[in-house]
Amino acid sequence: MSAFDLSKFNQPAPRYTSYPTAPEWGDLAPETYNQKLLELEDVPLSLYFHIPFCKTMCLYCGCSVVLNRKPENEERYVDYLMKEIDLVTALTGKRRVVQLHFGGGTPTKLSIPLFARLFEKIRTSFDIDFSQEIAIEIDPRTANFEKLNFLRKIGFNRVSFGVQDTNWKVQEAVKRRQSLEMTIETYEMARQIGFEGVNVDLIYGLPHQTVETFHKTVSDILEMRPDRIALFSYAKVPWLKKHQLAIKDETLPSTEEKFEIYADARKRFVEAGYLAIGMDHFALETDEMAKCFRNRTLGRNFQGYTAQLADEMLGFGVTAIGCARHTYVQNIKDLPSYYAALDIDQLPVHRGKVSTDEDILRKWVIHTLMATFELDKKEFEKRYGEPFDTHFADILDKLSQLEVEGLVLNTPDKIVATELGELLIRVVATTFDAYIEHGHKKFSQTV
Ligand SMILES: C[S@@+](CC[C@H](N)C(=O)[O-])C[C@H]1O[C@@H](n2cnc3c(N)ncnc32)[C@H](O)[C@@H]1O
Ligand code: SF4
Repeated sequence: MSAFDLSKFNQPAPRYTSYPTAPEWGDLAPETYNQKLLELEDVPLSLYFHIPFCKTMCLYCGCSVVLNRKPENEERYVDYLMKEIDLVTALTGKRRVVQLHFGGGTPTKLSIPLFARLFEKIRTSFDIDFSQEIAIEIDPRTANFEKLNFLRKIGFNRVSFGVQDTNWKVQEAVKRRQSLEMTIETYEMARQIGFEGVNVDLIYGLPHQTVETFHKTVSDILEMRPDRIALFSYAKVPWLKKHQLAIKDETLPSTEEKFEIYADARKRFVEAGYLAIGMDHFALETDEMAKCFRNRTLGRNFQGYTAQLADEMLGFGVTAIGCARHTYVQNIKDLPSYYAALDIDQLPVHRGKVSTDEDILRKWVIHTLMATFELDKKEFEKRYGEPFDTHFADILDKLSQLEVEGLVLNTPDKIVATELGELLIRVVATTFDAYIEHGHKKFSQTV
């Protein structure tokens, strides 16, 4: 791809882990969430638990993090999480759960006894199907054999290791020092203990990365052969995450080089037998996500791509996001206010969005494109009772433009992303975003 093409397509765009996207959400009364929980559909749930604590801040980090070194703060947080579980289950009853995800921050920063207390509460408050995905994000710098073994014993079957890059110069520049030996050792422990799925997270576009340095990182990861690899584009959002300002722009790869780093890594993962899934995931054919991609049942939610798409998702903890009865809900973002709400027995809701019928329809279109790279117009008509080309008559011009630019093929039956369109699927998806035009919201760049 030429430099001209790249700069043209390198535009701010959402990652569409939700639609409408988070900047479009507004005030939402806790009573609205109460009501949605009472009306929850009789379907198995997906649960997300946010553990915000980290010992130090990685300079690139875009996650919701609370720096903490005091165990008593973590104990207090777990007490409140348990209270939140009680408030929610008082409305929903004891529900079946087919997906459980612990994210952060660093969930493994909790001590084993504290984690055990929280997990026991979850286990007894919900009916968890342990044959499904029970997953946790792990910073290898906080894990040891005892902790991993404990997690496996209580039912976790999938772990995601944060690696980002194995190059020391990159690691120094982002203040995340993690030797390759430590990463390999933790990975091998997880295998030995018997986790069924092991994922590794990488980020491209970090300071001092070049095609050559990242080539070596990819080789290091291929030696380990994890089941899944997430290859995230560095999301630079300094207006939200001030610590990112400490990364000097001049140390970052150019747009063209960043794209080359990605393209080279993608090619090598595919050559090594991984299936490229969606924008940023790679999975071995034996992995559940690869199977879902093949049979077109892959879903998209707040964690990115998911093999188990549950219609009802509940989020617990500070900043956690859920979606109940087509209503997005985000919890309060700071700990004191989160605690204060729970102290008065109120669900700690910060903001959200009740989806309209049109939002629900467009969410299906956008997520289907993001997860499968194509859209079956007949299926749209079957679901929504109107021909696709009629419903989207006002954007047919834009679709033609995308076709001219080589991003999609628009046939009477289907919209199919080309190879270039797959790489820039966020650009394709924005065509269907009814909010993007009038909004002046900031998003990370597509490349
Ligand atoms: C919430 S972190 C949790 C993992 C754990 N704390 C660790 O760092 O090992 C999950 C993943 O998000 C990704 N991530 C964090 N900040 C990012 C950013 N600004 N852009 C792209 N990916 C990011 C990293 O790959 C990270 O491993
Ligand atoms: S990348 Fe992980 S360890 Fe680093 S600050 Fe973010 S959440 Fe914490």
